Amino acid sequence: MPENHVARLAQRPKGEVKDSDFDIREEAIADPGDGEFRVRSQYVSLDPAMRGWMNEGKSYVPPVGIGEVMRGYAAGTVEASRNPKFSEGDTVTGLFGVQTHALSDGKGVAHADTSLAPLQTWVGGLGMPGLTAYYGLLKVAEAKAGETVVVSAASGAVGQVVGQIARLTGCRAVGIAGGPDKCRALTEDFGFDAAVDYKAGNLFADLRTAAPDGIDVDFENVGGDIFDTVLAQMNPFGRVAVCGLISMYNATELPPGPKNLRNVLVMRLRIQGFIVFDFARHNSETLKTLGGWYKDGKLKFKEDVREGGIAAFPATLRQLYTGGNFGKLILKL
Ligand SMILES: NC(=O)c1ccc[n+]([C@@H]2O[C@H](COP(=O)([O-])OP(=O)(O)OC[C@H]3O[C@@H](n4cnc5c(N)ncnc54)[C@H](OP(=O)(O)O)[C@@H]3O)[C@@H](O)[C@H]2O)c1
Repeated sequence: MPENHVARLAQRPKGEVKDSDFDIREEAIADPGDGEFRVRSQYVSLDPAMRGWMNEGKSYVPPVGIGEVMRGYAAGTVEASRNPKFSEGDTVTGLFGVQTHALSDGKGVAHADTSLAPLQTWVGGLGMPGLTAYYGLLKVAEAKAGETVVVSAASGAVGQVVGQIARLTGCRAVGIAGGPDKCRALTEDFGFDAAVDYKAGNLFADLRTAAPDGIDVDFENVGGDIFDTVLAQMNPFGRVAVCGLISMYNATELPPGPKNLRNVLVMRLRIQGFIVFDFARHNSETLKTLGGWYKDGKLKFKEDVREGGIAAFPATLRQLYTGGNFGKLILKL
């Protein structure tokens, strides 16, 4: 009988995640009870939010408890089922945790159509990151044709989809990313109108060149200096969808607040945070739209799939906070 390889939270990290924050072990595999099924996860999604899920304190979900299986989205195959909606051999996605085998009662689990896209894509562009991009851009920021959209962490899982949907909506898409290779991919592979390398050290002027008519929508993934610089170039009645603040996730002290808040006043900006779960009731309809664009070749997804199994989880997760990933970061199990 194979064993379940699992990462349990051993302690709350301080600053960057360390290997010792997790207890990585092998455990016996349980059989599904009535109404349950067991999934063999093949891909686990590594998400910046995982860092926040490990912290104590009030948030949009409870923190992962010490000793609990680390929370995580995964895609896999049903290998035993006592749930009528899921049969052996079905490919599915859900919050199965950072482990090779999970029991589920089916809540929040979706079928993944591998005739449309490979299984790994269902935790990426056709999974939570793709949905986040769609909702943040079109429902929260309400981007419209003719507007200029700026997205930070633009070559990542969410950002690459934001830029492509912006283009499909008739917007000018400007991406901010770290380094020339990522910036080249934005314009050459994903069809962004312009890309700005924030590591080149000239962000304000380079952004002005890339968005000469100002910025109507900021899809904010990073926070900090990047957010402040974008804020300074927003047009009247612009909208900021605060999707993420990755530059702050490992901070051990509160970072300085935005300097350019005056622009919120004088430009009458709307700043709204959102969590992808807020729109869950639209997921099946939205996945049809995203899937249709993907099938028609209008959406492309770059995935960064890493080997090493559960043992590689902490080191691979760290990559997200230093820009070590290029595209949707996924751990193969
Ligand atoms: N609100 C929601 O429901 C929701 C859902 C999903 C994701 N998110 C958020 O969306 C953002 C992107 O997530 P993702 O999954 O698409 O990750 P990702 O963009 O694939 O990976 C993270 C990227 O962030 C950039 N980054 C990391 N630290 C940075 C720093 N200090 N300054 C500037 N850039 C930095 C790096 O790109 P560079 O190499 O370009 O620096 C890195 O590759 C995150 O903030 C995440 O929390 C929110």
